[in-house]
Amino acid sequence: MSTHRLTAPAPGWTATTDVVVVGSGVAGLTVALNVRKAGLRVLVVTKAMLDDGSTRWAQGGIAAALADGDTPEQHLQDTLVAGAGVCDEEAVRTLVTEGPDAVRRLIAVGAAFDRGEDGEILLTREGGHHRRRIAHAGGDATGAEISRALVAAVRTDPEIELIEHALVLDLLTDADGHAAGLTLHVMGEGQRDGVGAVRARAVVLATGGMGQVFSATTNPAVSTGDGVALALRAGAAVTDLEFVQFHPTVLWLGPEAEGQQPLVSEAVRGEGAHLVDADGVRFMVGQHELAELAPRDIVAKAITRRMQEQDAEHMYLDGRHFGAAMWEQRFPTILASCRAHGIDPVTEPIPVAPAAHHASGGVRTDRHGRTSVPGLYACGEVACTGVHGANRLASNSLLEGLVFAERIAADLARRHRSGELPERVVDVAAARAAHPVPLPPSEARAEIQRLVSRGAGVLRSAASMADTAAGLALLAEQAYAHVAEEKPADPRVETWEAANLLLVATALVAAAAQREETRGCHWREDFPERDDAHWRRHLITTLAATGGPVSTPEEQ
Ligand code: SIN
Repeated sequence: MSTHRLTAPAPGWTATTDVVVVGSGVAGLTVALNVRKAGLRVLVVTKAMLDDGSTRWAQGGIAAALADGDTPEQHLQDTLVAGAGVCDEEAVRTLVTEGPDAVRRLIAVGAAFDRGEDGEILLTREGGHHRRRIAHAGGDATGAEISRALVAAVRTDPEIELIEHALVLDLLTDADGHAAGLTLHVMGEGQRDGVGAVRARAVVLATGGMGQVFSATTNPAVSTGDGVALALRAGAAVTDLEFVQFHPTVLWLGPEAEGQQPLVSEAVRGEGAHLVDADGVRFMVGQHELAELAPRDIVAKAITRRMQEQDAEHMYLDGRHFGAAMWEQRFPTILASCRAHGIDPVTEPIPVAPAAHHASGGVRTDRHGRTSVPGLYACGEVACTGVHGANRLASNSLLEGLVFAERIAADLARRHRSGELPERVVDVAAARAAHPVPLPPSEARAEIQRLVSRGAGVLRSAASMADTAAGLALLAEQAYAHVAEEKPADPRVETWEAANLLLVATALVAAAAQREETRGCHWREDFPERDDAHWRRHLITTLAATGGPVSTPEEQ
């Protein structure tokens, strides 16, 4: 196991709990609530505020076979087709069979989904689903409602401890290599500010995604791959990093637009909006039996191709035929965000282009959320349970967070009952004496985003990725040179984030360069075909002793 650590001052304070959960989206808060029911102490650490997790940005909804006539088997088939041959079928089966009851338990916690006049939950469609099976809330504010309900439940339990505005740095392990806590930096002015440590019997990562490795993404600014980077430094295996999903319809705000971009939910197409080019041609018709509702990778590629053919910067999503009342009731969030940018979807088509949206890969886990490091769990976007394969089926991610969070809590409860979760002994000060990771300056963030977007975006090739890899290697060398000159960048949040981005970007590009085929959302212009003979398998990435990521193809 490697022992790389972010350069950090000695922890100034220490807290102790049973289970530390990092992240406050659907996955993190579900673990916290269920672990409490098992009688374990729990501490939730979140990078922003409790209600600021990535979950609240989810628009479309949560997929589950809830409709009469729909079955987990049909949901499984749609998930496997979208995943392009590399889903873990047993993980998908777990997701789709446990999903409907997990959604009912979420409703019992307080999440209010949209219902029809008969009181039944309204279900919509999204790309790749052959049935209406997406439950939604507040029209297009599903994540916000789920987040509201879970935050309210967490806040009513005084035994759940919280630390907000905290960036996790590194895993602490005991002499047996079992997770024993974390170091973190709290950006506050309370008793626990600055660098501190939490001792725990188990650690759960639910830190969300890594969309900020790209210049334009639907992810919030906090999605800097902290969980994957921490796990790699701790010696955990990560997988499928090359499978980054680009959402086909992100509001196009101009060629220079950077950072988090407004999403235009796939549910808008699910309700009948059309993708058209500048001449009004519906270019998805005839390309796939589901036309605009083809799986996301197919739609994102078709948009990108059309943009290239027509030398256009974007395509259009036309939902004018919905009329004002439907836009206001069904898609109030999207209507408001378009209008805030000077576009009125009631009277004009919406300019859209693909942008980075979801990491299908992440820290590799089994079906109980266990990573390759004992006592370290992962769930939600930071994890790779195997359910998404090479391309996540729309609205499966909230469900994945929910189902696998419940399974992690159940595993922790079982281990607690059987005495397998003893207190861990860790020497926090000694834990610092590992290989320090050189910190790039905070300005490296924009350069990393530029390099990855240019060479490893929707369309990739060996040449484009070689340029990106060389640029990333130069940034790493510069960071090492600063250390050698005894002028290391300041250890602070911006530089730690830059170090995390640099590590996950380097790992992502290395895996994407190695996978010489086109599959799901990994699109190689130099290897345009899917190659099942060589590549129907995963790339497992770990950190070498030298500090660089190494990807190894799994046995077929
Ligand atoms: C959307 O509403 O289009 C996003 C939902 C998802 O990413 O699953």
